[in-house]
Amino acid sequence: MAGNLEEVKPIDSTSESDMSTAPLKPEILVETAKKMMGREFQHVLGALLNMLPGYEEMLEVKTDGSCNVSNGGVQRQDSKPKGEIKRQSSRGSVKGDKVLIRRKSSGKIRDKSKCNVENVVRPFIVKDEDYKKLMGVMLEQFENGLGKDTNSTAKVKMFPTYVRDVPDGSEEGDILALDLGGTNFRVLLISLNGQEVKMESKIYVIPQQIMLGSGTQLFDHIAECIYKFMKDHKLMDKKLPLGFTFSFPCKQIGLDKAILAQWTKGFKCEGVEGEDVVRLLHEAIQRRGDIDVECLAVINDTVGALMSCAHEDRNCAIGLILGTGTNACYIEKTENVGLWDGDNDEPHQVMINTEWGALGDDGCLDFIKTEYDRQVDKHSINPGRQVYEKMISGMYMGEIVRLVLEKLRKNNLIFQGQESEELKSRGRFYTKYVSEIESDEEDNFTNTKQIFKELGFEKVSDEDCRIAQHVCSLVSTRAAYLASAGIAVLLNKMGRPEVTVGVDGSLYRFHPHFHDLMVEKITHLVNPGIKFKLMLSNDGSGKGAAIVTAVANRMRGQKDESSIRQEVEN
Ligand code: GLC
Repeated sequence: MAGNLEEVKPIDSTSESDMSTAPLKPEILVETAKKMMGREFQHVLGALLNMLPGYEEMLEVKTDGSCNVSNGGVQRQDSKPKGEIKRQSSRGSVKGDKVLIRRKSSGKIRDKSKCNVENVVRPFIVKDEDYKKLMGVMLEQFENGLGKDTNSTAKVKMFPTYVRDVPDGSEEGDILALDLGGTNFRVLLISLNGQEVKMESKIYVIPQQIMLGSGTQLFDHIAECIYKFMKDHKLMDKKLPLGFTFSFPCKQIGLDKAILAQWTKGFKCEGVEGEDVVRLLHEAIQRRGDIDVECLAVINDTVGALMSCAHEDRNCAIGLILGTGTNACYIEKTENVGLWDGDNDEPHQVMINTEWGALGDDGCLDFIKTEYDRQVDKHSINPGRQVYEKMISGMYMGEIVRLVLEKLRKNNLIFQGQESEELKSRGRFYTKYVSEIESDEEDNFTNTKQIFKELGFEKVSDEDCRIAQHVCSLVSTRAAYLASAGIAVLLNKMGRPEVTVGVDGSLYRFHPHFHDLMVEKITHLVNPGIKFKLMLSNDGSGKGAAIVTAVANRMRGQKDESSIRQEVEN
């Protein structure tokens, strides 16, 4: 019983039954789609082709609207050539300016249902002109954040960090690092010796009652984890410098002073906003009195990603996180930072932590928000905040997909009348499922079937799997494209001819297509002549903090030496 959705409108005046019975030819579909949707016709075409049973060939649609029918030429994902802009998912692939749409050979998706499925998911298809509009809005907001007079009212805060330059490879020493802000809290021991980096780390759970408890409880817990780590690693008799990757929006007033502006992601500990987190950490360490560590630097995870990639590639000038949350930092000329109140010495630049997750908190993204985004926001612990982050990052993606699937299920467009308490439960559809479902080969839905079995569905058809894969693909593609628009704004703004973007985070790391989708979209949006590369950061939060701390430690050593010298001379 398809067709009982409240807001589902027919795609066109062409009735659903016409679509299922007419002997449609690809060329006719292209023309129909063109008339229906103008520039957006490629997406609609994809939808229409899914209604066509039995086609085996590929339809090559050029972006000028012309099309060729051929039988193949699209490589499977596992034979994807390296370095080429190429994506392949269940929806087809993109190569250069051509969209290659793979036809369903089995034609198993029921025509009527498919039509309604497309109507439900269509809001996730954002037009190219809207991505460009978004870029304009973003640039304006970035400028407002950087401006001395506009910063106080700006939503995107563009915090200057006190990190001025990329590493030169001479950083050395044993550093203790803390990484707080993702799914896990980690303590690390890092030994830097030029290009050589050794690392030991341990994950500690932060229970939810601590994430939502008091600041004192949180920092006491962190201090206890440091103690346990030092004891286990026989470091109790050492005095080690500590670097703290604290991945929340902070106004820095020095390398070792960071005032938390507001909590994001799953944290909401009382008494921390407006306070210096380094002071809170030191107080907790002093309360224990049994460990001897001093925090010399606090950094955001984006800065960690940038620094760790720059350790290998000095062109790295952007750090990007696509994990539980999303954010980016980049290197800006100090002359462009109205807010900057540090020195004007060389290197005349500073890393800016954009905190772009807050984009849209003033309603500027409402033109692309869907009803699902609004629901996710409404039930979050910070309604109305981190709008862009909620449309992109891992903390929310699974929930968006769950809401769409549940809507399809309620309307009997998937799972053939079966119900699942699990699918009805908020937060129960994890973002890792999105990656797993999209990793399934077409017509072999091993992961997908397993996941829905876990969620309590007894019978899951191939058609159900195809629909689920389609939903996941649209939601994750939108996320990748939204993040790409942000990166393109930064690349255009910096205007450097060649930039490496250091990327970290579980969403980027584990999603089968995120990287390729981003390369494709950034290429499309960036100014001509700018070359870029997306580089996976290896443990940026630990390594980055260690590098910054090692430099701070060396500079402190130099200062101490010169003040001793001065004293001696006097
Ligand atoms: C959130 C935090 C930001 C962090 C990002 C990725 O957006 O506010 O500081 O960088 O998540 O972890």
